[in-house]
Amino acid sequence: MKRVLFVDDEPKLLDGLRRMLRVMRNDWEMEFAADGQEALAILDAKPFNVVVTDMRMPGMDGTELLNKIKDLHPQVVRIVLSGHSEKEMVLKTVGLAHQYLSKPCDADSLKATIARACSLRNLMDDEGLIQAVSEIRSLPSLPSLYSEVMKEMASPGGSLNRVGEIISRDTGMSAKILQLVNSAFFGLPTRISNPVRAVNLLGLETVKALVLSVKIFSEFSRAGSNYCRIDELWKHSISTALYARDIAREEKRSQDKIDDAFMAGLLHDVGKLILLDKFPEKCQKILELADSEKCHAWEAEQRLIGTTHARIGAYLLGIWGLSESIVETVAYHHSPHECVEANLTLATVYLANILSKEPSTSNLKKAMSGANGEYLEQFGISDRIETWRAVCDQASQGEDDALQDPVCG
Ligand SMILES: [Fe+2]
Ligand SMILES: [Fe+2]
Repeated sequence: MKRVLFVDDEPKLLDGLRRMLRVMRNDWEMEFAADGQEALAILDAKPFNVVVTDMRMPGMDGTELLNKIKDLHPQVVRIVLSGHSEKEMVLKTVGLAHQYLSKPCDADSLKATIARACSLRNLMDDEGLIQAVSEIRSLPSLPSLYSEVMKEMASPGGSLNRVGEIISRDTGMSAKILQLVNSAFFGLPTRISNPVRAVNLLGLETVKALVLSVKIFSEFSRAGSNYCRIDELWKHSISTALYARDIAREEKRSQDKIDDAFMAGLLHDVGKLILLDKFPEKCQKILELADSEKCHAWEAEQRLIGTTHARIGAYLLGIWGLSESIVETVAYHHSPHECVEANLTLATVYLANILSKEPSTSNLKKAMSGANGEYLEQFGISDRIETWRAVCDQASQGEDDALQDPVCG
């Protein structure tokens, strides 16, 4: 049974939530607190999975409460439920909350958001890792792209399109901007996976405030390690993104699906970035084991830390509220057969990842065999694989140009 805590100073609102969520009582144990003090006492008494809090409350306000929860119970997924008039206040809490919902919130999106946050626990069960990932406020960016964004934002003639284009070349900045733009707080109707669209929808003033004052981006200070160099990881991520995008285009998928394929490709190894940034000593051990056992890094990760970079990355993107299709793709990009849904973006990125690393015929055959092969076959991929390989060959020839300007879409 998952535990969910709601905090709001308005008794009517809490009553409304109680009624609205009664149908979930067999799945969730729910508690309701009228203020921050009561919420903290409830959290001290037993472990919770998710907290949903109001921002403007007398006494301890939402910012203070979220700060305390972050320090005292970092593994809890923190969701803000607030009114639009509190936008200024909410901007200040970027990084304190994982997701934002806007009042009034309809029952379906509230239930879906909480249910997704609860189900992410199935991806990882190590409390230490969950805690470390839940504490992440931003992901490190490639230093050259970070300074490009800063320069563009600070320049009087700075262009939003240009900022979006630079962001769409960086894993860390893309993940962060999509977390913000997809939060219901900004009231955008659909899930967005294209950073150029994302910054245009947020608008210049909000993006400036987020980047320059709130400092939602940060740059990587180390070059990585033998486990994975940051520049190599970046090149691999962007080529996987370009391959996935070009395959989706070749298959004449909708523009949303093409954007999804690009972004899922760019983000698929975000867990490696997290491991490099937060657990450099573990990375070294993973590398040694993979070397001595001649196995994949993700197999060594599974043995040493009980999970993989795929699941670690998916957990973060999940608590940040990115689209289900992207989170699933990241979670299962080495093992699509473990995914219960038929996710064509996952199948595409699985192959784009292999094609961008080891495009030999024997590798592709291996990738298309066994349980993973069966998963791919539901989309009739074996008939298309040679076309896909040709698409990726072509993309890799134009990769140098594309690396300069890989706008999704
Ligand atoms: Fe990977
Ligand atoms: Fe990869």
